[in-house]
Amino acid sequence: MAVALKSVLVSDAVDARCVDLLAEHGVHVTCRYRLPVPELIAELKNHDGLIVRSDTKVTAEVLAGAPNLRIVGRAGTGVDNIDIEAATRKGVIVLNTPGGNSISACELTCSLIMSLARNVAPACQSLKEGRWDRKLYTGCELYGKTLAVLGLGRIGREVASRMQAFGMKTVGFDPMVTAEGAASFGVQKMELDEIWPVADFITIHTPLIPQTRNLINDAVFNKCKRGVRIINCARGGIVDEAALLQALNDGRCGGAGLDVFIEEPPRSEPTLSLIRHPAVVATPHLGASTQEAQQRVAVEIAEQFLALATNVPPQVR
Ligand code: NAD
Ligand code: MLT
Repeated sequence: MAVALKSVLVSDAVDARCVDLLAEHGVHVTCRYRLPVPELIAELKNHDGLIVRSDTKVTAEVLAGAPNLRIVGRAGTGVDNIDIEAATRKGVIVLNTPGGNSISACELTCSLIMSLARNVAPACQSLKEGRWDRKLYTGCELYGKTLAVLGLGRIGREVASRMQAFGMKTVGFDPMVTAEGAASFGVQKMELDEIWPVADFITIHTPLIPQTRNLINDAVFNKCKRGVRIINCARGGIVDEAALLQALNDGRCGGAGLDVFIEEPPRSEPTLSLIRHPAVVATPHLGASTQEAQQRVAVEIAEQFLALATNVPPQVR
């Protein structure tokens, strides 16, 4: 289906290559960031395309106020900030760039696992504050430990194969991946109730959907090894933040590496206490924040827009 694509609003900062590519093909591009909703709606009346990253919330209200909008693209993987149902009802096409930032998200996950094992963040902070606390920050080896990977899609399987290089045993669960499929990238598929008692580290790589909301909860911590470490670079809400804080405080959880939060940026409890917790290493949703990933997703979303506008398929990379 071809879309008459004359004018695109880019409402979150994306790499300049996106704008350049669209402009080179005669599409008029306007970049306006952090628009309040009424201004976003007013601006959208002039455009048939919208490109966002995470900040712009493409709600039913925004879509209802944008009669000319035909296509919305997210320069990223998840489309949680776009109301897909409302878009579908209005016949607005929604595009994303799955895969463009998978390696970056995977590498951040691996760095959080390593940072947790060796207390890198708190030890660094302590040293900067003038202390020399070698004993306090004794860590653990990853070699021989069991890493559970929940969600064996693009990012989960990349994390598993990299952590195998450290000598970790990798187990995992994904309803869409067979035991044979998981074994092909070195992961032993198990049911969740088999995973909890054996995992030393649990890393999450599922979408946030009703089946995964609060997947890691208070009852799960009761079934896990005491001191299990949790890593979430997927979406806030998959880990029950109140339960995680409680488990960190009573020792059932030995540490957490968090890139994503229920509220972003976090302004309320229990997220703020979690971030400040000494056993937590936290980053502000940086999974995709590398030059490489941002350039890739910017080019991919522009190519997809152009392919729809001209019926030319996107370049195969
Ligand atoms: P993907 O679609 O390739 O893989 C997700 C996997 O989760 C699928 O294989 C799916 O079958 C599985 N899954 C679904 N329900 C499940 C359940 N109940 N239990 C276990 N597995 C289940 O997605 P991806 O590209 O690997 O992304 C994974 C997550 O990471 C998404 O939430 C995505 O939005 C997020 N992400 C975050 C960042 C970041 O900046 N932190 C960057 C990229 C992606
Ligand atoms: C994504 O879904 O791609 C991630 O949340 C990364 C991002 O774009 O910030």
